[in-house]
Amino acid sequence: MDIPWWRDAIVYEIYVRSFADASGDGVGDLAGVRERLPYLRRLGVDAIWLTPFYPSPMADGGYDVANYRGVDPLFGTLADFESLVEQAHEHGLRVLVDIVPNHSSSEHPWFQAALRGERRDRYIFRDTTNNWQSTFGGPAWTKVADGQYYLHLFAPGQPDFNWRNPEVHAEFLDILRFWLDRGVDGFRIDVAMGLYKAEGLPDVGDQSFKSVSPVWGQPEVHNVYRDWRRLLNGYPGERMAVGEVWTDSSEDLALYVRPDELHQSFNFAWLQAPWSPTAFKKVIDDTLASVPFATWVLSNHDVVRHRTRYGTADPGTGLARARAALLTMLALPGSAYLYQGEELGLPEVTDLPDEARQDPVFFQSKGKLPGRDGCRVPIPWTVDPPSHGFSPGGVEPWLPQPATFAELSVEKQEGDAGSTLEFYRQALACRRDLVGTIPYTLEWLDSPEGVLFFSRGPLTCAINCGLQPVHLPEHDTVLLSSGPLKGDLLPPDTAAWLMTS
Ligand code: NOJ
Repeated sequence: MDIPWWRDAIVYEIYVRSFADASGDGVGDLAGVRERLPYLRRLGVDAIWLTPFYPSPMADGGYDVANYRGVDPLFGTLADFESLVEQAHEHGLRVLVDIVPNHSSSEHPWFQAALRGERRDRYIFRDTTNNWQSTFGGPAWTKVADGQYYLHLFAPGQPDFNWRNPEVHAEFLDILRFWLDRGVDGFRIDVAMGLYKAEGLPDVGDQSFKSVSPVWGQPEVHNVYRDWRRLLNGYPGERMAVGEVWTDSSEDLALYVRPDELHQSFNFAWLQAPWSPTAFKKVIDDTLASVPFATWVLSNHDVVRHRTRYGTADPGTGLARARAALLTMLALPGSAYLYQGEELGLPEVTDLPDEARQDPVFFQSKGKLPGRDGCRVPIPWTVDPPSHGFSPGGVEPWLPQPATFAELSVEKQEGDAGSTLEFYRQALACRRDLVGTIPYTLEWLDSPEGVLFFSRGPLTCAINCGLQPVHLPEHDTVLLSSGPLKGDLLPPDTAAWLMTS
């Protein structure tokens, strides 16, 4: 069987606003991404995923799209996008773009027409509300001038589409074609389990991302992805789609990953697992038992960075664990998604001043929740402030970077063998050499308490989540470790790749 490129791909998420600013306005842009393609190539990833760069009033960092077929001037032009795709391909990098089908911006012409009382059938308008809450806090309904309410599962500036209207369906097929015709290799589908709501919009008891709920995961959504798959199959070059699907079991996740539906789905169970060998093992077993094409992810632009999640009072422990988790993830069968900055070991920035915060989660929770700005702080490329090379000249970036970013900058880490950046480069290069030579399956080996050993043919991965050093399992050579080994001992918070002939 020919192995599709995405099965084992390493995809690097670029949160465009925070990656690199070429224009000098303090906000990242497409030209900034283009300038950094050699860095990404050198890092050793296979593909990039660009978060939304479409025209948007930025009520939710661009996940509120006002025009699905354009580029916001903040991020550049359509010509910039086209040259980015072309140059990415020249560097051997595939390009995925984010598609946001659950909701548009309230500035979208369809919603503007709806506000004027025209064609409300493309959104969800009602005379009375139900008890649904916005994921960001507060009611999921906002009243318009004539007294009707519209549904928004996220910010009020993100009205939900009515997917029971075939016009919405046709519009999105056309949007996908627009980007496929511009050479994109695939799509990341935002809120992929949210498009349909249960008929009659019944009240809910618990609105968390449950597989069985009137809000999420309605069976009708699968027909959408069947149509999208047919469209993707009609294009040359193995175009693909990965869904942002939150479910409470791997079996439910697998419903989206089928030969006639999505190619992949994010596996948030891995990211939600605490630092625990039993939790890790359970997620790995459940995933491999149900999901035909597995994916793994530790961080993204919506969650606390994993260095901080795993960190205890000692930030060094967080980094050691983050590196060990990465090595373990890269040894698993399937594809892995990295989030910009994790290769530098960036922590969550927890002390942003309230005035700097921009995430609607902060505002809709009336400041009770910090929101997601702390994982979106612009990347430090160089040592020197004011922007650590993020913006040219003396421009301040859109979110302030802490002074500690100097030490974590690319400039500081490049060429330093012990740095997290060089560790990522090495791990990705090793994985690239290994991936075609080892089986897609995984076998558990006996291991002491607090520790996991698994093998894939000649490769064994060992991770020590316990408190004591343990003996490495049988091996011929040590390929790589996430931290220093002590002779034959694997210290706590450390992982290693071992080879046996
Ligand atoms: C998921 C995206 O990743 C997140 O950033 C966004 O706020 C919501 N979907 C709503 O579009």
